[in-house]
Amino acid sequence: MTMAGAAPAIPYDEQQLVVHVVGARPNFVKMAPLIDALRQRGVDRQLVVHTGQHYDRKMSDEILEDLGFPQPDCSLGVGSGTHGEQTAKVLMAFEEVLLEQRPALVVVAGDVNSTLACALAASKLGIPVAHLEAGLRSGDWTMPEEINRVLTDRLSDVLLTHSPEARTNLEAEGVDLSRVRYVGNTMIDSLRRFEAEARERAAWRFHDVEEGEYVLVTLHRPSNVDEPRRLAEIVTALTTIGRRSPLIFPVHPRTRARMSDAGLLTQMDTAGVRCIDPVGYLDFLSLQAGAGAIVTDSGGIQEEAAALGIACYTLRANTERPVTISHGTNTLLGDTPSALLAVRPSGRPPTPCVIPLWDGHAADRAADTLIADFPAIGAGKLAALA
Ligand code: UD1
Repeated sequence: MTMAGAAPAIPYDEQQLVVHVVGARPNFVKMAPLIDALRQRGVDRQLVVHTGQHYDRKMSDEILEDLGFPQPDCSLGVGSGTHGEQTAKVLMAFEEVLLEQRPALVVVAGDVNSTLACALAASKLGIPVAHLEAGLRSGDWTMPEEINRVLTDRLSDVLLTHSPEARTNLEAEGVDLSRVRYVGNTMIDSLRRFEAEARERAAWRFHDVEEGEYVLVTLHRPSNVDEPRRLAEIVTALTTIGRRSPLIFPVHPRTRARMSDAGLLTQMDTAGVRCIDPVGYLDFLSLQAGAGAIVTDSGGIQEEAAALGIACYTLRANTERPVTISHGTNTLLGDTPSALLAVRPSGRPPTPCVIPLWDGHAADRAADTLIADFPAIGAGKLAALA
């Protein structure tokens, strides 16, 4: 087998380096299958850089361990800060790595601050960038992620997309479509790989609830949690749901800090809402698979819920992932917290959705196309052995 396809047979010692950037929780889940697929194709010169945007054990190490993620070769340790500060710190630290390593390709994923900062550092040095999960658009310029998406796509040489509307969005922005590669969703590759193990865990048992009878909640977007009055309205709605159905809420550190400042944790506690620390990848997948419904403002969870067939209610005015509505289980609740009152466990078995190219093999397609596009990273070793 030579997955290199068009790639010439490059002696292994001339194979050039690929640098993968991860920084925040969802990056790990998206990037793990691609690193693995490239390795399987003989691309051994891969370096993983962890920017340290997420650094708590529960936000980083536990997820990396669950995914069997390779130990990052380099940790930038930038931590938290304002958007400008965090982005600037990653930009400066990553530039140093690039100057030292001179890779043939940098791969960034998703839409977090680390994604944009690293794409910018690489493109200024003339190093090609591939963007995994390119082309998603919410149309909402108040979201930091939307700014990161648009700018990262503009800076990237290869745009790996997960759904057809990504191409349409890019076309509308005048992006050269010869850069676009529709490969599918690598987050769902991870999900399919770990689904059986996660189900076996039945993590809901540890919270004294029955499968299918609880609502799982995650909320961390600034637009939902940073404004005390809005957060209080959301908490009031959640406590109302919590009185009729058990509710499990793994609380992001940002959200916990805001709820604690506003004295809202006690209100949740009194209503019996199970506010727990963030959980690892396998436990969270398990909690999603066993839920009767999910409330979220996360992008990735809209996708995972659709793949698992669990009813998902998104507390946002828009989504950059409309395919989860048209082909999936996602309902956009809009901007008003009282809309949450409609949420209840579905009472029906999950109805997993079939979304084109969300089939567990997106990373294989992404790896094939990267090797064809950048022969210097290619399967020199495999070709040499063949
Ligand atoms: C970031 C991403 C968001 C993504 C989310 C996934 C950006 C702009 N946002 O949001 O798109 O959906 O990750 O979780 O990049 N904190 C800790 N420990 C940590 C990490 C964060 O305590 O390990 C706290 C800090 O107080 C920090 C705050 O959480 O200031 C926010 O973290 P940050 O990385 O800036 O953004 P997220 O809200 O996590």
